[in-house]
Amino acid sequence: MPITPTSKIWMSGQLVDWDDARIHVLNPTLHYGWGVFEGIRSYATADGPAVFRLTDHIARLYRSAKIYLMDVPFTQEQIVAATKETVAVNQLETCYIRPLIYLGHGEMGLNPLPSPIEVSIAVWPWGSYLGEDAEQNGCRATISTWRRNDNNIIPPAAKASGQYLNSSLAKVAAIKAGYDEAILLSPNGHIADGSGENVFIVSGRTVITPPLTDGPLGGITRASIMQIAADAGYEVREQHIVRTDLYLADEAFFTGTAAEIVPIAEVDDRPVGIGKPGPVTRQLLETFHAATRGEVDRYKDWVEHVHG
Ligand SMILES: Cc1ncc(COP(=O)(O)O)c(C=O)c1O
Repeated sequence: MPITPTSKIWMSGQLVDWDDARIHVLNPTLHYGWGVFEGIRSYATADGPAVFRLTDHIARLYRSAKIYLMDVPFTQEQIVAATKETVAVNQLETCYIRPLIYLGHGEMGLNPLPSPIEVSIAVWPWGSYLGEDAEQNGCRATISTWRRNDNNIIPPAAKASGQYLNSSLAKVAAIKAGYDEAILLSPNGHIADGSGENVFIVSGRTVITPPLTDGPLGGITRASIMQIAADAGYEVREQHIVRTDLYLADEAFFTGTAAEIVPIAEVDDRPVGIGKPGPVTRQLLETFHAATRGEVDRYKDWVEHVHG
């Protein structure tokens, strides 16, 4: 999806012009992928722009940094404040936010520890990641032949730059085969997650998603939907899912910050349920969107206002 330039990008404490937010070609993160990042969204609310679960996203960013021994020279509170400042200065309400912790330039080699740690925060307007049609009518997914990284190869608990080679290999194969999205299996053959989304299935009044031990990212949208579903009276379970569970589910959907909630209409050319977004998916999706707009009292804490 093309990026629409905005005005300023926050780079290690300074707001710089969009066109000046550059790194050197010998930057080690560019070569070896040793960096961690977040994907966050800000939404328009009655009280101005609000970033959805910003504090939780920044906490995950710092957990990722810890796994990769990146000692961030800013506190989490400073990065929360810098994120709000970047949204405000660009005069955006609804936008995507990309904080990145990366290695500074000056060292080269496979030991990242001598490199300085830099942080950038960019924001831009970004529409629906899998497209309007997928959101309305459901997407077509396929189980990838690429497996999710094993915890002892590249830990899926972090959201690290180089880790996304795995997701991109699966995504490219899915697109070339004519599907919208890939679903990756864990090394032991359980469903893990989509290339950039968590996966849920619905069976009767039970809403099921794979446990984190099967290698999905601990998605913040996943946690939100689990809470919304439990509050709506569904039984929510974290349990192993195999590919036929997806084929035979009543409903299935993806969750993620970029994709938001996207119904899955087909998996490997088999319609899921009736092959259209089902009523449980619709109900959860509507509550989620209302929550992001600050319209659900119960979830007001998830909505972190940019101004005041
Ligand atoms: C591999 C993967 N799974 C799941 C998710 C969904 O996580 P979240 O809801 O926090 O955006 C993402 C997005 O960050 C992802 O990259």
